[in-house]
Amino acid sequence: MAIPESFLEELNARTDIVDLVSSYVSLQKKAGRYWGCCPFHSEKTPSFSVRPDKQMYYCFGCHKGGGVISFVMEQENVGFADAVAILAQRAGLPMPEVNEDAGQRKRRAHLLELNKEAARYFYGNLREPDAEPARQYLAQRGLSKRTVTQFGIGYSFPQGDRLMNAMIDKGYSKRDLLDVGLCVANNKGRIYDRFRGRVMFPIIDLRGNVIGFGGRVLDDSIPKYLNSPDSPIYNKSRNLFAMNIVKKSKAGKIILTEGYMDTISLHQGGFDYAVASLGTSLTEEHARLLAKYTKEVILSYDGDTAGIAAAQRAIGILSKVGVSVKVLKITGAKDPDEFIKKYGHNAFQRLLDGSENQIDYRLAQIQQKYDLTNDEQKVAYLQDAAQMLARLSSPVEREVYGGKAASAAGIDRKIMTDEIDRQRKNTGWKQRKQAERAMLNPAANAQPEDRRFRYQNPRSARAEEGVIRLVLLENSLFEQATELSPEQFSSPLLAKIYSVLLRRWEENLSLDLNSLSAELSGDEMSHLSKLMQEVDSPANGEAALRDYVLVILRECARSKFDKNSSDEELLQLIQQKQQRQK
Ligand code: UTP
Ligand code: MN
Repeated sequence: MAIPESFLEELNARTDIVDLVSSYVSLQKKAGRYWGCCPFHSEKTPSFSVRPDKQMYYCFGCHKGGGVISFVMEQENVGFADAVAILAQRAGLPMPEVNEDAGQRKRRAHLLELNKEAARYFYGNLREPDAEPARQYLAQRGLSKRTVTQFGIGYSFPQGDRLMNAMIDKGYSKRDLLDVGLCVANNKGRIYDRFRGRVMFPIIDLRGNVIGFGGRVLDDSIPKYLNSPDSPIYNKSRNLFAMNIVKKSKAGKIILTEGYMDTISLHQGGFDYAVASLGTSLTEEHARLLAKYTKEVILSYDGDTAGIAAAQRAIGILSKVGVSVKVLKITGAKDPDEFIKKYGHNAFQRLLDGSENQIDYRLAQIQQKYDLTNDEQKVAYLQDAAQMLARLSSPVEREVYGGKAASAAGIDRKIMTDEIDRQRKNTGWKQRKQAERAMLNPAANAQPEDRRFRYQNPRSARAEEGVIRLVLLENSLFEQATELSPEQFSSPLLAKIYSVLLRRWEENLSLDLNSLSAELSGDEMSHLSKLMQEVDSPANGEAALRDYVLVILRECARSKFDKNSSDEELLQLIQQKQQRQK
């Protein structure tokens, strides 16, 4: 890591985690901790805890956790270096210069500057005499002057070197232009403008940076849209078009569309809360970004089969991050843009008012699969619908939607609710069985949330967790643990954490949660925060640590020697080893 250790320590010391988190989440003090509703998943009762004593946070609901740096990384959706920069600014500390990360930051800033210049240039082009075709096109698509200004819409001339020359005049290099994807090189090495003869839509991030462009042809030629490629400053899976505008909307919900024009038309039509995913289907990162700003997303995709499939996929992804999803059914027009232009603001509002929620939508999807005039198919529909409805936890919802599903198929209401109950009993039984099994097997309970981190040897892993917890709580205890080597750990993740700690201990660096966030991934940090939640008092830390070390050594020996060798034998071996060390 290129950011100096001393700087990170200073930053850590100057940042109070309660203060920091409070600027995003309202916290209440209870029993030495602070509690609030988790900013990373949607919830109504607080399960997000902040511990000022350890400078860490942990959510008992979604199991995210870490220190101040990981908090900023999660919350602001930025990498380690950016999180440090944000915290530094907050603490009034100037960032240390002359290292690689400062170099990268400078490069990014330079490229962002270039994109901003290019956006200005494209926008300015619209007033040039030879931009008449573009002006005509925008007028024909019904975009007002105000909309063109609001979205910074522009035009790229068809020639192929005009943007390049304009930017070179401003001091940018061909390398810069290639790096952000404004220019491309052909196989003879000739460099020319990527966007030629297109209406240009700048893509702007939450901080107001121009991170990329989309460009549309003025006619029917192919490809219809060209988009900036991913670059050091643009990642299409992480950004949504118009999110910079929507984040200021008071609507409390977000309409998600598939296209630039859909989103722009909705804004022009008075819906200031539409965004679009661009040239890519919805990703989990998009979903998390949306979840940060709203609890309700309304899908407004095209009405064709591709649009329906995309909507269904999106429902799954959005449900995972805890936002409720409604689906608009666009009829009489191909897409939202066409719809609002044809029928107007009020018609779209009515569509929104009547928008189906997820359950209705799923029911309609199930219904579509069956021919309900056929008795056999009716039964299959009944079972299929009941299976979906049986999973609803609210009895009222089961009742209401059960009734709807029944009447849609001309089935007696009672038959439907009976079927739902029957299916519920089935699944209820399955769940109980599972819970029982888990209870009989406490080792399984101790397993990490994240499947990738599953413990092969839970007994040893518990002790390994203990060692890590204790040395983080009371650094001086490390003295006693150094006889352990990471290879003796059974869990690769815990071994990794331990080896990072060990190295830092040997190099005399600080040992706290935050100092680890540069070396561990977000998931790894979350797991570490989770294991830090367990109580281990440093008061009898020495004794506890000795026990833990013993367990680890024994389990390690057990795995190395014949599995059948008795405990006594192993114990002897370990005792011999300990004698030697004294
Ligand atoms: P559509 O083909 O539905 O376009 O693509 P649209 O938004 O209705 O565009 P207009 O109304 O004809 O202008 C939806 C989105 O898919 C991406 C673009 O982001 C577009 O807005 N797309 C489409 C591409 O990236 N490349 C293409 O060639 C086509
Ligand atoms: Mn369209």
